[in-house]
Amino acid sequence: MKPKLINSIEEMSVIRKQLKGKIGFVPTMGFLHEGHLSLVKEAKKKTDVVIVSIFVNPTQFSANEDLSTYPRNIERDIELLTNLEVDYIFFPTNEQMYPDDFKTWVNVDKITQVLCGKSRPTHFRGVTTIVAKLINIIDPDLIFMGEKDFQQLVVLKQMIKDLNFRTDIVGCSIVREKDGLALSSRNKYLSSSGRKKALCLNKSLLLAQKLYNEGLTSSNEIISQMTNLIENNECIIDYIEVFDPKTLEHIPELVGGCRIALAVIVENTRLIDNIKIV
Ligand code: PAJ
Repeated sequence: MKPKLINSIEEMSVIRKQLKGKIGFVPTMGFLHEGHLSLVKEAKKKTDVVIVSIFVNPTQFSANEDLSTYPRNIERDIELLTNLEVDYIFFPTNEQMYPDDFKTWVNVDKITQVLCGKSRPTHFRGVTTIVAKLINIIDPDLIFMGEKDFQQLVVLKQMIKDLNFRTDIVGCSIVREKDGLALSSRNKYLSSSGRKKALCLNKSLLLAQKLYNEGLTSSNEIISQMTNLIENNECIIDYIEVFDPKTLEHIPELVGGCRIALAVIVENTRLIDNIKIV
């Protein structure tokens, strides 16, 4: 059966009140790929009713970013979610989510200013604000999110704890193409040669794991070798960081369980990826 498409907050609230059992929620900006669908599949396994939101959230894009060109294909998204037997798709309008008199922001301190926060200083404020609104509207028992956006996951877990929301987040592993490229809606922007260059993100993360396996632990040394690999592929590094997965603080020596994340500009597209060092 086709999922029920809900366009208004009011209708979503009325329906939500009638739902029984465990409610699973997958927030997305649409243009769905296997990464998104893995979250939906996990939600189907762990909850009784699955709600997916599709909303390209304008407040998490800054003025010079790709809001106007962000890929959209609602018909295809509906088809993919129908195949997975999703129950509801929440697809609100901008006017509904951000009426003219909108004035309130949710902001998580400190951990939003590192990693992606350095080059995207207002990004996480947009993410936390929209997800807080969605949580209030949908009131899920569990939210399913990808480790692909590792910082987003940590920031939202902090928000949920600090604001005493009753929901919990389930983090799901990164889905990759066969050749290792992490799936992303933004991969669509790449030319075929850009697509090849973009493999350097995953390759450099795998290099870090290999160097660590061989006994190298200096973050600086490992970052320097990753930098060479990426720059040899004509890509521009925004950041490469080795950090503690709980605090997101830089660590000078790699240890098992630490994360390495990076943002790299390939052609004109900024891509992110990360790895858990084991
Ligand atoms: P979006 O980029 O559409 O991603 C929606 C969810 O899919 C996020 O939890 C993201 O981590 C996950 N995801 C994306 N690519 C993935 C991959 N290759 N493997 C596993 N999971 C993947 O993230 C957002 O939207 C927005 O910031 C949002 C949370 C919806 C707020 O607007």
